[in-house]
This record gives sequence, structure tokens and C-alpha cells, in this order.
Amino acid sequence: MELFRKEDKMSSLIGANYNLLPVINRFGIRLGFKEKSINEVCTENKIHTDFFLAIVNTYTDESYFPEAELLSFSPLLIIEYLKNTHRYYIEYVLPKIERLLNKVIESCTEDCSSLKMINSFYQKYKAELLIHLKLEDEKVFPYIINLYKEKTLNSDGSSIEVLENEHTNVEVKLSDLKNLIIRHLSPNYEDNTMNEFLTALFQFENDLNDHARIEDHILIVQVMEFEKELGK
Ligand SMILES: [Fe+2]
Ligand SMILES: [Fe+2]
Repeated sequence: MELFRKEDKMSSLIGANYNLLPVINRFGIRLGFKEKSINEVCTENKIHTDFFLAIVNTYTDESYFPEAELLSFSPLLIIEYLKNTHRYYIEYVLPKIERLLNKVIESCTEDCSSLKMINSFYQKYKAELLIHLKLEDEKVFPYIINLYKEKTLNSDGSSIEVLENEHTNVEVKLSDLKNLIIRHLSPNYEDNTMNEFLTALFQFENDLNDHARIEDHILIVQVMEFEKELGK
């Protein structure tokens, strides 16, 4: 897929990839673009256009990851975006997935034991993910914001390496959940509801992987470099 450029119409961006709808919302951009270009909409909304483009292009094309470019943006800008994404997961995606899962369970007529197993697997996954997001919102991000504000290392010896948890666990669990459903679940449910549930899991997995990529390859790298500079 071709990458988006400043002068492209904002409406064409959504036409080319509707998965970007929640991504643009995280920037505070809403529909009704008329003939405006990406640059015009960003300027109107006081959004850093290059940062916006780096993010939407990262979401659109998996092979495109403007590491060098993203590394040049302020960590505070990246954190704001990541925090909005967390809010989107907590307030919208997880409740939606849970609603769909409950609908699937309600549609089960006999021997629902494997669905119950899926449900408990999902609940454990959700609890773990929420702990991860909370840790970032309450410890990791404030640590970084403070580091850039004070420009000194913490005297208690904390560092980004100690604070930030690995993403492997939450990524693997979500993929296990999908595989469990696709490969092993007895088909005692209503098909359309199950498909909706599974589609929501696939979409969430994509979004989450991109999110983790920005954290691991951009934000954490930036902060580690900054800590090194401060430690000299
Ligand atoms: Fe995160
Ligand atoms: Fe994370």
C-alpha cells in the first residue's frame, strides 16, 4: 500500500484504510473533512503533521516503520498518543470484546464447558493486560515525563529498563486465545456472533502489536539514550 503524504486528502486516508478511524480519533480528529488535505486538518487541530503521518503510515503498512523519524519526535508527544490509545482500549475495546464474548456464551445451548474455559482464559488475559496498562500510565509515563522535565536521573536508582514490563506475555496470551478458539472450540454457539467476537480479537491484536512496537522501538529507546546522556 502506498504511504500517505501531507498533501493527500484526509478523506482519502479513511477511504484507503478504515482501520485508521480510531487512530485519527486519538489525535482528536473527527469526520467532516470536506476537501481538506492531511496537512490542513492537522494544522487546524494543532497536530504535528509529520508525527501524525508517521503513526498512520505505521498502522497502514506493517513493513513501514519510520524508526529514525519517530525517534526524532518528543517523547512527550509519543506519550500523549500512547495514553489516548490506552484509554481507547480500556473504555471501548475491552468492554466491546467482553460484550461480544457474553453474547457468544448466551448463544450456547448445550455443553458450554469449552466456552466457559475460553471465558476464564479471557478474564485472566484482561486482568494481566490491565495491570500492564496501569503500570505504564501510573509509573512508566510519569517517570519519563519527570525525567525530561528535571533532566536528572532519579536518586532511587529507577530506570526505564527496570520500570517497563515486557510485552511478550500480553501478546502471546492474546494469540493463544485466538488459537484456542480457532483450533479447539466445540462449535456450540451462534456463528455470526462468534465471527464478530473473533474479528474484534484480530483487530485488537493488530492495534496492540503496533502500540507495543512504538513503545519498545521508539519510546524506550529514546529514554534509554537520554538516561545514558544524563548519567555521563
Ligand atoms: Fe502501552
Ligand atoms: Fe506496553
